[in-house]
Amino acid sequence: MRNFNRTNIFFKKARKIIPLSSQTFSKSYLVYTLGRAPLFIERGEGAYVWDIDGNKYLDMISALLPVILGYQYPAVDRAIEKQLKKGIIFSLPSLLEYELAKELTKMIPCAQMVRFGKNGSDATAGAVRLARAVTKKERVAVCGYHGWQDWYIGVNPRNEGVPKAVKGLVHKFQYNDIQSLEKLFKRYKNEFAAVIMEPMNLEEPKNNFLEKVKEITHKNKALLIFDEIITGFRFGLGGAQKYFNVIPDLAAFGKSMANGMPISCVVGKREYMKKMEDIFFSFTFGGEALSLAAALATIKEIKEKKVIQVIWREGSYLERETQRLIEENRLENVMELKGKPCWQVFKIPDLVVKSYIQQKLIERGILWTGSHNMSFSHKRKDLNYLIKAYKEIFPSLKNAIDKGMLKKEILGKPIQGIYIR
Ligand SMILES: Cc1ncc(COP(=O)(O)O)c(C=O)c1O
Repeated sequence: MRNFNRTNIFFKKARKIIPLSSQTFSKSYLVYTLGRAPLFIERGEGAYVWDIDGNKYLDMISALLPVILGYQYPAVDRAIEKQLKKGIIFSLPSLLEYELAKELTKMIPCAQMVRFGKNGSDATAGAVRLARAVTKKERVAVCGYHGWQDWYIGVNPRNEGVPKAVKGLVHKFQYNDIQSLEKLFKRYKNEFAAVIMEPMNLEEPKNNFLEKVKEITHKNKALLIFDEIITGFRFGLGGAQKYFNVIPDLAAFGKSMANGMPISCVVGKREYMKKMEDIFFSFTFGGEALSLAAALATIKEIKEKKVIQVIWREGSYLERETQRLIEENRLENVMELKGKPCWQVFKIPDLVVKSYIQQKLIERGILWTGSHNMSFSHKRKDLNYLIKAYKEIFPSLKNAIDKGMLKKEILGKPIQGIYIR
């Protein structure tokens, strides 16, 4: 059995001075079987990470998706080191901004102009502010998760601290339910500045959903923003907009842009993006050069090594085999595997079930929080190791459920969840 002595000691210490003991909900103790799970990572290499107790894991989380190539990926690290010798950040923009913007305008269909941010939330917030400035309207329709900031997070159950007035301007609609969006446009006639959505999350778009959203958004004189923080650089270098051939007015990219270096961007049509000069979208670390250099190296590597094709091919294999095991063990009512091969997510409503699987995977040296976040470093042997683990775990899971013994099998504290959607 794995030892988590240092982990558990440092969790107590850290939580005394760092609320949550993490900077990110989805990297916190809330999504792990506390007591029997790692909580701090010391280093990563390829598809593997080592926790502070020296335990090694095959990492299926990929740092919540930025690590698309792998940890300590040589070509990207070399680009960072090269830039480090020139400087991290300067008092004026570097030409790397121009180079990367140029590259993005070639790759992403809606991208005629580009502005950079750091987190995905910078990009979604910037795009929404821009849409409000362009349309002179205030309401925003949302579908998916779009970051931590006030303009959006009012629709989340965890929304303490967000002013009521701001909460009142954001409205949820349902994916693949065009009527839910139509209703909003009808109720608040001519009041929407933007519709922002993840072009795809767990579900595939059905009945031309994306085309219909675009049509009614424009009919109602609002801008369509695709939140491609996850899909961008995974569905393809042109994002989901290219994959589905539905081109929005604006889009936000982040996560996989630089294999883990902090960078995001707002991209879009020139007629709207030029208004960026008037709104307030400006921060000290925008244009930080190591991340720009890393992004350029990441894009080059993705192109040269055909990374997108590889993660889709390997992801399909993993998806197929996992699906087969779910069916073989008659677990379809307990879990579903959703999403596309490059990013597959388990829908597991019962957190005790999720805790059981996680605990058993951690015992086998696999770090997992309910998704397959594919990276170029996930090799066939790694995937086979995970599949073999599912093969062993799923029958015992089914057995424990049937006997009503599941809860008793969880040794740590069951996963609590974070309710971010
Ligand atoms: C679809 C989507 N949009 C926006 C964000 C916010 O990005 P960040 O956490 O980098 O601010 C996320 C983060 O998970 C996301 O998944």
